[in-house]
Amino acid sequence: MNDNKVSFKPILKGRHLLSSADLNAQELAQVLDTALDLKARLKRGEPTHILEGKSLAMIFEHPSLRTRLSFDIGMYQLGGRAFYLAPTEIGLGRRETPSDVARVISSMADGILARVRDHTTLLELANYSSKPLINGLTDREHPCQVLADLLTIRERFGKLTGLTMAYIGDGNNMAQSLALASALSGLNITIITPPQYWPDEEIVHQARQLANGKSFVKVSNSPEAVGDADVIYTDVWASMGQESEAELRRRVFKPYQINSNLLEMAKPNALVLHCLPAHRGDEVTEEVLEGSQSAVFQQAENRLHAQKGLLVHLLAD
Ligand code: CP
Ligand code: NVA
Repeated sequence: MNDNKVSFKPILKGRHLLSSADLNAQELAQVLDTALDLKARLKRGEPTHILEGKSLAMIFEHPSLRTRLSFDIGMYQLGGRAFYLAPTEIGLGRRETPSDVARVISSMADGILARVRDHTTLLELANYSSKPLINGLTDREHPCQVLADLLTIRERFGKLTGLTMAYIGDGNNMAQSLALASALSGLNITIITPPQYWPDEEIVHQARQLANGKSFVKVSNSPEAVGDADVIYTDVWASMGQESEAELRRRVFKPYQINSNLLEMAKPNALVLHCLPAHRGDEVTEEVLEGSQSAVFQQAENRLHAQKGLLVHLLAD
């Protein structure tokens, strides 16, 4: 037994995190509180070996820098270990069915992180995994990224409730997870996107139900809707798997670029966020991404801290 092991009271033991809406408002706030506490302890050099002896298997069907590294280092800092499984090793759905993969991995590992192309594959893995399964990005949602985003906003403004975020760009996995998590946090959100790229109507409806009249969830096609935003968020116009549509999307989304003109329409100190990787000159200009209002690298670092907050609540004894 390592003397550094720290005891901890988990609140999500054994659960899956497939969607941002799998947490309720209190659980989401608690994960963020824990993340801030673990971040402070790390900065003070205090040991936090809450997951000593625990293992996380990581399935990736798409490439990753932030997700892979933050879970890997996060498990290491918590006294556990992560095991990376490359797309070529598993061949999900080709070499082996998701149901078999989930049963094999969950018989050995304490938890699974999965980045898969289709959300339906994640749901199948979840049905057959006897251990917590974490969504590391699908075509529907990216809930781990949103934990880091909310942490970054909290650090900047000291709160979430009552603030307004404008997400501008594709109504994609990021937009959908942001809508759900914002609603849970009392953060107003306007998703600004051309009509043919609006987020899934069912998810917008679900987000409005979660907000329960306490905050708004709007969808607009007008870039001017950034006007009342405290936070302006964007993501790539063509997500992983949509590379063949990149040229078409570049033309359609051009008016939705975050540039200095668009920033002038927003509140003077509006925070600029981007989940990264960024395509400078497409969804955001170099000037804005590197400018004083941008917090994208703090946001990327917060992937580590936010997910440590999540991991301890899911996996600690
Ligand atoms: N933001 C994000 O998920 O980055 P990666 O694709 O590099 O993991
Ligand atoms: N929407 C992007 C997010 C990358 C982190 C994608 O799915 O590729």
